[in-house]
Amino acid sequence: MSIDHPSFGRIDSNRVIIFDTTLRDGEQSPGFSMNITEKLRMAHALAELGVDVIEAGFPVASPGDFDSVKQIAEQVRGPVICGLARTGGREDIQRAGEAIRGAERSRIHNFISTSPLHMKYKLRMEPETVLDLITRGNQAARQFTDDVEWSAEDGSRTEPDFLCRCVEAAIKAGATTINIPDTVGYATPEDMVRIFRMLLERVPGADGVILSAHNHNDLGLAVANTVASVQAGVRQIECTINGIGERAGNAALEEIVMALRTRQDVMPFSNNIRTTDLLKLSRMLATITGFDVQPNKAIVGRNAFAHESGIHQDGMLKNAQTYEIMTPESVGWTKSSLVLGKHSGRAAFRDKLAALGYGDLGENQVQDAFVRFKHLADHKKVVYDEDLVALVDDEQRDH
Ligand code: KIV
Ligand code: ZN
Repeated sequence: MSIDHPSFGRIDSNRVIIFDTTLRDGEQSPGFSMNITEKLRMAHALAELGVDVIEAGFPVASPGDFDSVKQIAEQVRGPVICGLARTGGREDIQRAGEAIRGAERSRIHNFISTSPLHMKYKLRMEPETVLDLITRGNQAARQFTDDVEWSAEDGSRTEPDFLCRCVEAAIKAGATTINIPDTVGYATPEDMVRIFRMLLERVPGADGVILSAHNHNDLGLAVANTVASVQAGVRQIECTINGIGERAGNAALEEIVMALRTRQDVMPFSNNIRTTDLLKLSRMLATITGFDVQPNKAIVGRNAFAHESGIHQDGMLKNAQTYEIMTPESVGWTKSSLVLGKHSGRAAFRDKLAALGYGDLGENQVQDAFVRFKHLADHKKVVYDEDLVALVDDEQRDH
């Protein structure tokens, strides 16, 4: 079944909308704040990458946040530009509405907590008051744009009957995207599947709006929860470059996109992401924030396409598919790397020597150099090209 959406028109049932919140939730990671120029640079790059929605900030939070949402709305073309607002705050919605006014296509994303814990201790509100605010907040947002998203903060820990009532109220009040965040990264993939299936079964109108997943990574499950949610019927995923975000972060855009792309056999969904730009975006964000990604980070980490063990290197030299499930080029790397270390074997060693211009060494010379290399590798974590050149030159001098 396809859905008619105010910003995207008719959306096919297998199309997944990529909602990037690097500039809002991502920026909420301690130490990751960006200035307006940096945010604009990221926003232009995200537009080129092909994201569908950019959540540019939380306009009521500060004059700087308001200005960056406003400037992104006025200058960045392509994606829908979205501003965040609290459902209960009239000023929030007013400020968000003003900030997104200059956009080609705009969205207000309003949210309120719905879990017993949050309603009692954080909001200090009765459930009926929250329901009333959901109706009024979404109606107020519709005064500024037809594209309104509503989020049930702490949705994954919300009592199921109440969650259904909240979602129904939001849809009736004009929300066209319904987001169920796992705000504290507590859910399992099965939990998320159960929640979205329940909404689709029980809430009138839920099949006529876009359901959205927004997962935090406190248990390292953000990407798994997002992928499971898509399999359960979600058609918008909220994510950030490099998975940055509050505490342990949000679901990483590059990981979800490549999971969907690589496993088309079980998830035949489409999106508009130009995957060859993924590494570029990751590096740009790392440079801007000053925080590098860990070497073993999927897709964009330094080791994501590096192979050290002899058995793996031998397989790679025969056929890259033996140890790679996607090509490095498909996500922006120039090639895989065979890193020489103590686990490396003769095949990769010989291959590296040839690449360094020592392809004509005799078998005995290669063997002697290989023995020396293994001794060196026992003491050095990585053996670099310069180490190898020195080692072979020494070897030749000794003979
Ligand atoms: O994690 C969360 O609940 C949020 C909402 C504001 C959508 O970021
Ligand atoms: Zn969040």
